[in-house]
Amino acid sequence: MSEMIESVLHEKRVFEPAKEFAQRARIKSMTEYEALYKRAEEDLEGFWGDVARELHWFEPWSQVLEWNLPDSRWFVGGKTNISYNCLDRHLITERRNKAALIWEGEPGDQRILTYQQLHREVCLFANALESLGVKKGDRVAIYLPLIPEAAIAMLACARIGAPHSIVFGGFSAEALRDRVDDAGAKVVITADGGWRRGKVVPLKDNTDKALENSEISHVIVVKRCENDIAWRNGRDHWWHELVADASAKHEAPAHDAEHPLFMLYTSGTTGKPKGILHTTGGYMVGTYFTTRMVFDLREEDTFWCTADVGWITGHSYIVYGPLANGAACVMYEGAPNYPEPDRFWDLCEKYEVSVFYTAPTAIRAFHRWGDQWVDKHDLSSLRLLGTVGEPINPEAWMWYHNKIGGGRCPIVDTWWQTETGAIMISPLPGATPTKPGSATRPLPGIIADVVKKDGTSCAANEGGFLVIKQPWPSMLRTIYRDHDRFIKTYFGEIQGFYFAGDGARRDEDGYFWIMGRVDDVINVAGHRLSTMEVESALVAHENVAEAAVVGRPDEVTGQAIVAFVTPMSGVAAGEELGVELRKHVTDQIGALARPAQIRFADALPKTRSGKIMRRLLRDIASGSTAKGDLTTLEDASILEKLAQERGDEE
Ligand code: PRX
Repeated sequence: MSEMIESVLHEKRVFEPAKEFAQRARIKSMTEYEALYKRAEEDLEGFWGDVARELHWFEPWSQVLEWNLPDSRWFVGGKTNISYNCLDRHLITERRNKAALIWEGEPGDQRILTYQQLHREVCLFANALESLGVKKGDRVAIYLPLIPEAAIAMLACARIGAPHSIVFGGFSAEALRDRVDDAGAKVVITADGGWRRGKVVPLKDNTDKALENSEISHVIVVKRCENDIAWRNGRDHWWHELVADASAKHEAPAHDAEHPLFMLYTSGTTGKPKGILHTTGGYMVGTYFTTRMVFDLREEDTFWCTADVGWITGHSYIVYGPLANGAACVMYEGAPNYPEPDRFWDLCEKYEVSVFYTAPTAIRAFHRWGDQWVDKHDLSSLRLLGTVGEPINPEAWMWYHNKIGGGRCPIVDTWWQTETGAIMISPLPGATPTKPGSATRPLPGIIADVVKKDGTSCAANEGGFLVIKQPWPSMLRTIYRDHDRFIKTYFGEIQGFYFAGDGARRDEDGYFWIMGRVDDVINVAGHRLSTMEVESALVAHENVAEAAVVGRPDEVTGQAIVAFVTPMSGVAAGEELGVELRKHVTDQIGALARPAQIRFADALPKTRSGKIMRRLLRDIASGSTAKGDLTTLEDASILEKLAQERGDEE
């Protein structure tokens, strides 16, 4: 059967939640879901207020929501502390000695921290930060591997009220510099290195490069790989030495609900990443609620979200959401296929993971590596599976369902974004019948729709823009230091609504099917990148006259980067330049932005007014002929030449 036909057949299948699962689930049927959804829709403030009351507040709010489009304030006047809610709150319960973090390093070393131990580590480190002069409101940059110290640092910053800005360890020194500068960070927390496929990622070296001309007075370094590193006396401090001198008592202060919790840089349509700002109370309520509902958490669950804390998924579903619920969370430092392609399944078996949350790219890669790696392991502890970050194709969904979930585990395909802070559209596993490839229905409290440019709703199955029509607690509050860009980007496209940047359709059952970005953002292996960001990196190279970057479909990573490059005159195009440019992009942004293919061209197709016609380049990159209206094209012969050029494929 052709893949196309198979895909359509899978899409048409509907999977009802298994009876045994539904019986014990929080929400057991669509009738219950619909009643809850209706209640939230009719009384948004009452609904979220009830959720928020399940958490600890030092002082209650006077108003649940203050909404002056596009600005929202949640739990106005309320005082809380998210670190207190993730830790201290559990210490007076039977969770005190329950595992909070079950961590494994890539080399196989292990560390398990109970809630009591994690609380102690966070208090020690909060005091250490304060001893260096970090105060409420100061920004702290975190550039760490996925080790317990990453979670400890986040919770310590949150405790003090010092917004953190995590930079994914795969980003380069240049990318780190931009983010540290934009945030005006006072301190950088890093490690000597991190383990990835048996090699050391030189995080401290990158930090040194990033801070070459910086005034930053403190760098805190975790000893992880014991590799040689340069040391600047006075500025650099070992983490273990700082905490050795610190007190283990740290009372969590009360922060205003709208106090900034963190910023996280993400790609937009321009070359400059934007610092998405989240605040304390709303983000806490959103991540707490969604973790509990979507993953149907039970006290005895072992929850594993395979993301990195450098992305929003790691913020919300490795650290804040699960810990606010008192869950036991697995955390793994390294590559999924190291030392062998069964590392994830080995971890699932060893720790008896019951809820497993990963990205479609990983699922497709495991599928490709072969069933024999899965067959070696007993995965019977799994009861629920999740996906996030990109559309999942029905074939990958079926494989995940049958091979990993043994046909018994519901799959929650969760749609959300860095900006939304928490899951927005997803099945509730005990209630929602699933259709492979659809994120199904919005969660209670989330008023989503697919609309036309003028804001009116699309008909069933008509493609349009995915919007959120009412505010929700964990929504971003601004783009750090650029409120105008915030207004323009999210509320400027479709009047009156938050526009996410995604195209979608709703089928006759009201199920959402995400069709991908409608802007110049591409999604490579679940990582969000702006084509402009990669273009800016390329044209900064002395041998490049012009560059245009597009995404092409890729079987494993969803999309792959193709760069069309016109070299400076006199510069030879070819493999050597290709290698050089890939290295250059890696240095400027990080390996995640490396083009899969570089195609050289004497000229790029442009309109008569000089704009590069990316639409045509997308067609060429995906191997088809350029389609659509070509009348605005300045020089049609360029297309033919481009199509013949084979390019330098990695
Ligand atoms: O295009 C959507 C895609 O990922 C984008 C958000 O990326 P980021 O902010 O990096 O956050 C990723 C993790 C939450 C969205 O605009 N996306 C995310 N989840 C899905 C998805 N596309 C389809 N299906 C999903 N479940």
